[in-house]
Amino acid sequence: MSAPLETNQPAHLSLGNADVDLPRVEATAGGSGVSIANLLAKTGTVTVDPGFMNTAACTSDITFIDGAKGILRYRGYPIEQLAEHSSFLEVAYLLIHGELPTLPELEQFVERIDRHMYLPEDFREILSIQPRSSHPMAMLGAAIQTMACFYPESMDPLNPAAVELATVLLLAKMPTIVSYIHRRAAGHALLYPMRGEGYIRNFARMTFADPGEVVDLPDALVDALDTLLILHADHEQNCSTSTVRLVGSAQANLYSSISAGVAALSGPLHGGANEAVLEMLALIRDSGRDVKTFMTRVKDKQDGAKLMGFGHRVYKNYDPRAAIVKRSADKVLAALGVTDELLDIAREVEGIALQDDYFVQRKLYPNVDFYTGIIYRALGFPSSMFTPLFAFGRLPGWIAQWREMMADPTTKIGRPRQIYVGHALRDFVPITDR
Ligand code: SDX
Repeated sequence: MSAPLETNQPAHLSLGNADVDLPRVEATAGGSGVSIANLLAKTGTVTVDPGFMNTAACTSDITFIDGAKGILRYRGYPIEQLAEHSSFLEVAYLLIHGELPTLPELEQFVERIDRHMYLPEDFREILSIQPRSSHPMAMLGAAIQTMACFYPESMDPLNPAAVELATVLLLAKMPTIVSYIHRRAAGHALLYPMRGEGYIRNFARMTFADPGEVVDLPDALVDALDTLLILHADHEQNCSTSTVRLVGSAQANLYSSISAGVAALSGPLHGGANEAVLEMLALIRDSGRDVKTFMTRVKDKQDGAKLMGFGHRVYKNYDPRAAIVKRSADKVLAALGVTDELLDIAREVEGIALQDDYFVQRKLYPNVDFYTGIIYRALGFPSSMFTPLFAFGRLPGWIAQWREMMADPTTKIGRPRQIYVGHALRDFVPITDR
């Protein structure tokens, strides 16, 4: 392994008879990089990096992750401190506007969002006629796109006032939409937000209360939801955030970009993993096989078995979010008076994996999805709602990253190149001669 480049010294690349300096791009924390922006023009050669394992798509000052040390910071603030002391809307303000709000700024932000939590009756009607069997993430993506139909005045991606309005409308209506998706699937009436009830408390009541029921939601439920949303709020250039940025780079509006992010997040290798973890734990419980037998199937890669909720492209250490969720799981279940044998199985799986060479050598640790499903279940959510809850939490991060990309004067429409490995030139063959 050659010595790391000295600070501000460009890398030098020799390709055949082409020599090119690759200027450095300095990080304020974590690894710096080298720019290949002129590589093709100067050498006629492109780089190839499937999955972008070695490629930074942008510079960003929103979120910092150190995968080796298990560090996560939003705008420089450690996730542990934000989870302990902040609220989801305050974190949303921080991610989107770059600084923690003053009290008047936060009160104005919260009040503006509170005012917009309602959905028009026609919008409710659209959600009400979706098949009850619709997958929640399909409904969520469609609902986000539908916002563009109802709020055309907030669509122009180049108009700062329109972008600010779209930001508020998305944050305000996401809890209402997610609660409606849950109730549609359950065949329950769609409830209305109540002004001044509080963002998370409104969401929980619209999700779980019966029509007309005055519920006294336990603080433990509201606090647990608020913390889980904070933990999911941003995660630098993950698959769905990169999708939001790529779609936005074509100057598609914020709703279209966020809806694309919802689609990417629905994949089981990404946001869909929290639902897959519960299925995996239940499979272990119901199959009667002991955990060790299941782990052997994973290590032997039988029928593509993976340890869902384990592993991460960036974290090669314990995901700090998983550590926070694991620590709070006991407290939340006890406060809600819930026990869950799947939590015991999860702990047994983790205990075995952290001692097993297969996982240790590959630096596979629990990620954010490993324990969250157990808490969501304890809160009363069906597993089909786990990924919409992930999207709910990730919304401010998607918005912040999209706005950063749109404000960056170096942004160009995303259009990767390729290496062609198909047929050489050949002539058309009439079907009678084939
Ligand atoms: C999220 O990017 C983000 O920030 C995402 C996220 C966010 O907040 O946005 O953190 C949210 O998506 C968390 C990840 C949720 N997904 C899962 O829990 C699904 C299970 N995890 C794996 O599919 C996998 O770990 C990924 C997709 C998360 C990461 O895969 P990589 O980085 O492409 O790693 P890889 O597939 O190349 O694996 C390297 C090796 C392979 O073994 P070998 O070929 O060397 O023998 O590790 C093995 C893999 O088979 N491996 C696993 C494994 N993950 C990787 N083996 C068993 N179980 C696993 N979970």
